Amino acid sequence: MSILGKIEQDLTNKVRDAAIPLEKVHLLTSNRKDLGDYQLNDAFGLAKVMHKNPKEIAEALKKVFDESGYFQDVSIAGAGFLNVTLKDEVLISSLNTYYQDEKKDVDLLPKGKIIIDYGGANVGKTLHVGHLRPADIGEALKRLSIALGKEVIGDVHFGDIGRQSGMILYELKRRYPNLNYFSGKKEETWDEVPITAEDLEEIYPLANSKAKEDEAIMEEVRELTKKVEEKEPGLYELWEKVKEISIEDIKKIYKKLNTTFDLWEGESDCYPYMEPMIERLKREGYLTLSEGAMVIDVKKETDKAPMPSLVVVKQNGATLYATRELATLVSRVERFSPDEIWYVVDNRQELYFEQVFRASYKTKIVKEDTKLSFLGFGTMNGTDGKPFKTRDGNVATLKGLLKDAKEEVKMRMKQDFKEEEKEEIAEKVSIAAIKYADLLPNRTTDFIFDVEKFVDVEGKTGPYLLYSSIRMKSILNKAKEQNIAYQTYHMISSREEKEMILLLLKKNEILQKAYETKDLSGISDYLYQLTSLFSRFYEKNYILSETNKKRQESWLILTKSVYDTNRYLFDILGIEVPEKM
Ligand code: ARG
Repeated sequence: MSILGKIEQDLTNKVRDAAIPLEKVHLLTSNRKDLGDYQLNDAFGLAKVMHKNPKEIAEALKKVFDESGYFQDVSIAGAGFLNVTLKDEVLISSLNTYYQDEKKDVDLLPKGKIIIDYGGANVGKTLHVGHLRPADIGEALKRLSIALGKEVIGDVHFGDIGRQSGMILYELKRRYPNLNYFSGKKEETWDEVPITAEDLEEIYPLANSKAKEDEAIMEEVRELTKKVEEKEPGLYELWEKVKEISIEDIKKIYKKLNTTFDLWEGESDCYPYMEPMIERLKREGYLTLSEGAMVIDVKKETDKAPMPSLVVVKQNGATLYATRELATLVSRVERFSPDEIWYVVDNRQELYFEQVFRASYKTKIVKEDTKLSFLGFGTMNGTDGKPFKTRDGNVATLKGLLKDAKEEVKMRMKQDFKEEEKEEIAEKVSIAAIKYADLLPNRTTDFIFDVEKFVDVEGKTGPYLLYSSIRMKSILNKAKEQNIAYQTYHMISSREEKEMILLLLKKNEILQKAYETKDLSGISDYLYQLTSLFSRFYEKNYILSETNKKRQESWLILTKSVYDTNRYLFDILGIEVPEKM
């Protein structure tokens, strides 16, 4: 349990012993620091329950708090607001506990298994900038949930089926008509596939634009797509090879983003579950006919906006995205029995997921107590406020975006690092810049991608946080070199120090809130608050030349605690810290 949580728990017991029916004492960080560290407004709620006036209840609470031994000051303001200030000795011992292991200062959540579906990359096509946010947000939510005690399975859920297979095979057939893949025979040895991941970046968009302009080509694409789905010898093997090349490349980019999945499965992995599922839905009467298609009616009486039925089998008998979605759910439930499934997907798919969720509960693909959540995210726009494009106006590839950011960082690197070292640092700094900027705004709002702003070492940026953390580390290293030992925090010497301790103790609350809202912005903001507070403290005090040994020791404990906290939170956000920069 967290340090503050324990104090709150103890206070709650004491309040109850005094026959005050308060559910839980919650120490709210005060926005009037001059009045107290925390405030409590509970007297007003209790007044209604207890039929007394708030002032009287506040008095009773004050008495309990005064006697608890935690507070240096408890005062009543206005009609019954309580302001409380912790004793320095409580803060000091709290920090000493915190310092032992900052990771332990969290309240663990009840156990549970969550599947997070957050990659959404489409095989055969290169990742584009739209794939950045689900990777960053999904990965951080996964790490956060694990830190809070949940069991998590991350699934990339590749889009590995559909039109892109036909598009790519069309273009390959045109370029390499003699490949034995196109012979229609089941060969013993297939040809080497003559393309690389770089070629794919160009092949899909090219084929796509050709097919859009020419209906005959589009028809051929449809044919090829269908044949791949039917596993026609040659075409199916070729598509499998293309998938391999593409997936290898996609994995590399995810790795750069410190994003990794437990399941690298795709939409097509649900096929074994699909037919039996459709059969069952038919048998149990969930499918109705609508204009030749088989659909699930998902309307509810309470709907205020139109809620279209979910199409499961098209008029021509083909299945579609939603069919695979449902069958994937069947597979997930059967194999993993999750308590929750989260979908980190672009806001624009919200209605679709509402249909899917309703259909899943209605048809009992998932049980009522399995929680399905749609965690939508906003669009990444360019500095012109329109969906992000490259400088030459194309839909930007994620690779290109990462490369540009790295160049931007390199340009600003002052020191003369060795070439190799420079590459490595620029890589980490640019990824941190992008990830931090991505996780700073609210998940659901659109945000403006402004690389020049993001890579700046000044301001609310990833590089600023990295730079400051490296500085903390360097103080700690120097202390070590000078054999300055530190074990105990002894004294609070300044306002900044006290605020830093209060802020460290608030970390648990920040993490809990991020989990509740599935929004990382609070953590990103907290990192900045903590770091800038440290910077202010650091500017005023000379840690390594401090002559009062107890004070110096205290400062080093504080520095280490802030540093470790930063590292811990960076890790949750999926950000790596370079040794130097
Ligand atoms: N591949 C999809 C796309 O690019 C996103 C997949 C999201 N996840 C899901 N279970 N549908 O739009």
